[in-house]
Amino acid sequence: MAQEINSPFRYAGGKFYARKLIIEHIPEHTYYIEPFAGGASIFFAKEKVVGNWLNDIDEDLINCLKVIRDTPGKLIARLEGEVATKERHAYYKNIYNPKTKLERAVRWFYVNRTSYSGIMNMQNCYWGYGEKYSMRPENWPRNILRTSAKLQKVKFTSLDFEKIVSEAPDDSFLFIDPPYFNADQKKFYAYSFKKDDHFRLSKILRKHSTRLKFLLTYDDNPEVRELYEWAHAMHEKQWNYTINRTDDQKNGTSKKGARYKGHELFIVNYSSEKQKPLFSYQLNSHELIEQA
Ligand SMILES: C[S@@+](CC[C@H](N)C(=O)[O-])C[C@H]1O[C@@H](n2cnc3c(N)ncnc32)[C@H](O)[C@@H]1O
Repeated sequence: MAQEINSPFRYAGGKFYARKLIIEHIPEHTYYIEPFAGGASIFFAKEKVVGNWLNDIDEDLINCLKVIRDTPGKLIARLEGEVATKERHAYYKNIYNPKTKLERAVRWFYVNRTSYSGIMNMQNCYWGYGEKYSMRPENWPRNILRTSAKLQKVKFTSLDFEKIVSEAPDDSFLFIDPPYFNADQKKFYAYSFKKDDHFRLSKILRKHSTRLKFLLTYDDNPEVRELYEWAHAMHEKQWNYTINRTDDQKNGTSKKGARYKGHELFIVNYSSEKQKPLFSYQLNSHELIEQA
């Protein structure tokens, strides 16, 4: 079984800091699906099972994961000698015109690793690399290789979530992390959610609820609670996280990154309070730096 590692991507709304809490709630399963993969921080943090399926409507993101899975050496070769600078970031973001799948992956990987908070909506995608906190380009090859090892035999699609839920094999477990209901999610993703998408999600999950297990994470508000009143349980969860400053933001007085509290609902359709741990997890400072 491939090991537990960190996501290769930085990702807005990623669940890196909540991964231990989430994994505690995951029941035993042999088929695992993320219909809203993003940086797929839970897939990377947990043990791989027999069947694994990652989906995201963002084709560039899924293309980059596929290239990492299938031709990591080519991606590494194309990134060799690359430096993390504002100029290169602006070049990849605004000028570089990728023509092949490999070139699209090069662009996505470079821009993702050097943008503020991994925000990939091009209107809000700014230089955000911090020499102290970000993964340096010389470490990208190692990251790509271990990601590639974990991604072997993983199924990828780039479709709307309804198709994934409908086609999920019986007894699958789905970790579902849609864009937030109320938070300003439009600025983060190339593809965001409208109210109707939230309703569609609730409807399709309800329809398949007797044959699938799911854990859904959402911002806690009355509309979400009402939409899922049919589910088995809702748990209020909190965790701490930090956002490190980039090199550009170092003129302030504080030396550390800003601290925040995540507060979300975990909605499940099975009895979930603390499952048997799937593995024991230790967070170390090295991981925190790599993720930033
Ligand atoms: C909150 S993020 C997922 C973060 C992820 N769990 C992580 O740890 O990085 C939500 C994702 O949903 C995707 N998305 C938006 N609309 C979608 C749709 N209709 N179907 C599938 N994915 C969609 C976005 O591209 C985004 O990557």
